[in-house]
Amino acid sequence: MNKLKWWQTAVFYQIYPRSFADGNGDGIGDFAGMTARLDYLRSLGVDALWLSPHYPSPLWDCGYDISDYEAVAPEYGTLEDFDRFLEAAHARGMRVILDLVLNHTSDEHPWFLESKSSRDNPKADWYIWRDPDPVSGGPPNNWQSCFDGPAWTYVPERGQYYYHYFMKQQPDLNWRNPQVKAAMWKAVRFWLERGVDGFRLDAIGTIYEDPAMTPHRVPLDLAGLRHLADTAQTPAEKKRLARYWREMFQYQWGGPGLHDLMKELRALVDEYPGDRLLVGEDDDIAYLGDGDDELHLVFNFPLMRVERITPAHVRRNQRQRLARLDALPTRGWGCNTLGNHDSSRLFTRYGDGIHDAALARLNLTLVLALRGTPFLYNGEEIGMTDLIITDPSRLRDTMATWYYRALIEELGVPPAEAALRAGRMSRDKNRTPMQWSNAPNGGFCPPHATPWLPVNPNYAQGVNVADQEADPASLLNFYRRLLAVRKATPALIEGEYRPVHERARAYLAFLRQTASQTVLVVLNYSDKARRLDFSSLSKRPGRVIFSSQQGAPATCDLSRLEVADFEACLIELF
Ligand code: GLC
Repeated sequence: MNKLKWWQTAVFYQIYPRSFADGNGDGIGDFAGMTARLDYLRSLGVDALWLSPHYPSPLWDCGYDISDYEAVAPEYGTLEDFDRFLEAAHARGMRVILDLVLNHTSDEHPWFLESKSSRDNPKADWYIWRDPDPVSGGPPNNWQSCFDGPAWTYVPERGQYYYHYFMKQQPDLNWRNPQVKAAMWKAVRFWLERGVDGFRLDAIGTIYEDPAMTPHRVPLDLAGLRHLADTAQTPAEKKRLARYWREMFQYQWGGPGLHDLMKELRALVDEYPGDRLLVGEDDDIAYLGDGDDELHLVFNFPLMRVERITPAHVRRNQRQRLARLDALPTRGWGCNTLGNHDSSRLFTRYGDGIHDAALARLNLTLVLALRGTPFLYNGEEIGMTDLIITDPSRLRDTMATWYYRALIEELGVPPAEAALRAGRMSRDKNRTPMQWSNAPNGGFCPPHATPWLPVNPNYAQGVNVADQEADPASLLNFYRRLLAVRKATPALIEGEYRPVHERARAYLAFLRQTASQTVLVVLNYSDKARRLDFSSLSKRPGRVIFSSQQGAPATCDLSRLEVADFEACLIELF
C-alpha cells in the first residue's frame, strides 16, 4: 500500500468541538478537552480528525458564521491551545483537517462591517449588493435563503440589499472580486503554515450564483416549502415537494467559475509538503476535476440520503458512483459516510426501533468495507441517538427557532405542535454533548455546569464511553475491533469492489479484491438466518476474519455459509 496517500488509507472522525469534551468546566467543549481525549481516539483506531469550525463566531449557525478566520473561538481556547492540540494529535500519528467556510462570513466579520458601512468604502464590493427592485422597491428578486426566509436583507446605510444563501447573519462573499480571494487564501495559508493537514470545504456549491439572478417560479416561500415537507403524504405531494426544493434554489447554486476556483485552491494547497487534503461538502464528482487537479474527495451523500439502507440501494449507489470515479483521467477515490452534524444520527435514522444495535453494526461494517475513505461522526461509536428538544427555549440551531416562529406566526400551527416539529427538524438533536460516562451530564462537563445543549439522558442506560469500554460486547468495542481489522486488511482499503449475488434482496454481498487478497463481505440486512452458497467464488474453505456474531468459527465452507440474522461478516478467500 506504499503508493497510497495518507488520506486514502485513513479513517476520519468528525469532532463537533462544542459538544466533544469540556476541559474547563463551563459546559462547552474546548481544545483542552479535545487534547485530553486524543488517547481515546487513538485507541478507537481512527487516523484523522475533522474539526467542525473552531473559529470565533457569534454562533448564529453554530460556528459556520465566522467572524475571524485566523483565530480560535475564545470559549474553545487560544491559538496556543490549538497548536498544542495539533502537535499532540500529530505525535499520536493522527492528522487534523479544519472546516473552511468560503461562501460566507458572519455579519459581524470586520469585512462585512466595513462593506455595509457605505457604497464607496474599500470593501464595498466584497459582498453581493444589489439595489432594490425598481418597481416594488423591495428585494431584487424572490430568492429564498435555505435557512430563514428571503435571501436578501436591506441595509439602510447603503440603501441596498445584500444576498445570503444561508441566514441573514451569513452574508455571501463576492468571489468574483480578486481581493476576496486573496484575503481568504491568506487565511488558508495561515492554517497550512501551522501544520494542519487539509480542509473540509463547506457548502462549495453555493459560492457562485446565476449571474443573471433569474427568479425562481415556485409558488411558495421557504416557510411554505418546509411546511409542505412536514405534511406531504401522497406520492404526488412528495414528488411536487422534491421538484419545488430543486426549483426554488436552482439559480443559487453551481454558477460558473467554481472549477477554476477549486483548481486555484488545490494549487495553493499543493505548495505545501505532506499531501494536504481537500474534501468538499458536495457529492458532485465533477469537483474532482481530472482526478488530480481539484478536490481530492467529495462525499458520497447519495448513500446516506435514504430512509433505510437496503442492499439494492447500496448496489445501485456503488454502481453509479464507482463508474464515474473510474471514468476520470486520474481514477477518483471514494468517500463514504452515514452521518454528520447536519443529519439525524445513524443509530436513530437507520434503526427500525427493534434491531437498532444490530443495524448500527451492519452499517459500520458497510462504511468500513466499501471502496473509499470512511468518515465517522463523534458519538456514533457508542450508539448515540437523536435527542428531540421540545422546549424551544433550549434550541440552539437558529434554523429551528426560525421555523418554530414561522410555524406559529405564518402558518397558524399550535405552539405545542410547532415545538415538536421544530425540535425534529433541528440539527441540535444530533449535536448533543458526547456521553463519556454514567455521571451527571454524561461526564461531558462537571455536575454543577450547564451543558450548552441538553445531554441525552440515555447516558445512564449504557450509552456512554466508560461503560462500553468495560464491556467486550459493546458497540464501542465492535468499532475498535472492526477498525483494527480494516487496518490489517489491505483489500478493504485498496481492493476493487465487485458485487456478487446481485439479486439478493435481504443481504448484500460483495468482494474487495487486490492482486494478492480477496475478501468477501456479507451483510445480512434481515431478521432471518440463512445458508448461502458462494462456492462459485472458491472451492477452498474461507477464513473468517471478522464477524458480528460471537463465537463465529474461524473457517467456513463457502458452499454452505451460515449467516445469522443481521450478521456482518468478512471472509478471506483463497
Ligand atoms: C454546511 C454545514 C452546515 C452549515 C452550512 C452553512 O452545510 O455543514 O452545518 O449550516 O454549511 O455554513
